[in-house]
Amino acid sequence: MSRLQGKVAIITGAAKGLGEADARMFVREGARVILTDVDRENGARVAAELGDMAEFQYLDVRHDAEWKALVDDVVARHGKLDILVNNAGVVELGDIETQTEKDYRFIMAVSADGTWFGCQHAVRAMKETGGGSIVNMASIASVQGESAVAAYCAAKGAVEGLTRAVAVHCAQKGYNIRCNSIHPAGILTPMVMEVGRQAAIMRGPDAAQSGQLVKLGEPDDIAYTVVFLASDESKFINGAAIRVDDARSVIAGNP
Ligand SMILES: NC(=O)c1ccc[n+]([C@@H]2O[C@H](COP(=O)([O-])OP(=O)(O)OC[C@H]3O[C@@H](n4cnc5c(N)ncnc54)[C@H](O)[C@@H]3O)[C@@H](O)[C@H]2O)c1
Repeated sequence: MSRLQGKVAIITGAAKGLGEADARMFVREGARVILTDVDRENGARVAAELGDMAEFQYLDVRHDAEWKALVDDVVARHGKLDILVNNAGVVELGDIETQTEKDYRFIMAVSADGTWFGCQHAVRAMKETGGGSIVNMASIASVQGESAVAAYCAAKGAVEGLTRAVAVHCAQKGYNIRCNSIHPAGILTPMVMEVGRQAAIMRGPDAAQSGQLVKLGEPDDIAYTVVFLASDESKFINGAAIRVDDARSVIAGNP
């Protein structure tokens, strides 16, 4: 069964990592996918591998004008927008005492501003063409206190709060647009490999070698959840924050 048959989807940050896994699964499930990213080389390569149902378009999610042009172009050429996955995000190590303002503004611009612009333009387009599903990629960093990535926690908290505001607004207006957030724990992607490398450098070689091994998920663990939230199977789920973290953020109830 093709769970996304006939649907038109935009995925941000789709050149690698979780966005790439989403795009590959979306095409397998019958969707037409517009992969977007600032990484033209990898984005175009992945889209080419996916064939006729995929295309790559450059989009820096920090810029409102680029969003407007992209969404207008997709609706003009494909007739509608059914799904937006606000996946693009960046992380830099730093706690509340060490994180620079430059890093803070960069991280907020990609995750928080980018998701804001994406939601605005998706709602504008979807309400004219019968509705749709917006999936926002948050993190367990908005659930638990991850002191080593303070600005990232702030950005993902913004994504989580915005998701609820969009969901309730669209429900009250009767737009048939749903908006949900996904909160992964560590998944093996280029982002996590780079952060792990930086953390090991900062802790020094002894700490890196004796460091505890953390069980990481696979990109498809998240893509399955994205497909579910994007599909009509989840038509009564709106404003939800779904943790995909193998119980990492759960407070255990047993002694
Ligand atoms: N991997 C994890 O463990 C994990 C856990 C929780 C949440 N997340 C979130 O999932 C999303 C994807 O993470 P990932 O691990 O695949 O990261 P990644 O770094 O492997 O891939 C992110 C992609 O986003 C693109 N990107 C960066 N800035 C952009 C911009 N301004 N405009 C458009 N695209 C841009 C990058 O070029 C890259 O292709 C992020 O929002 C991240 O915060 C990841």
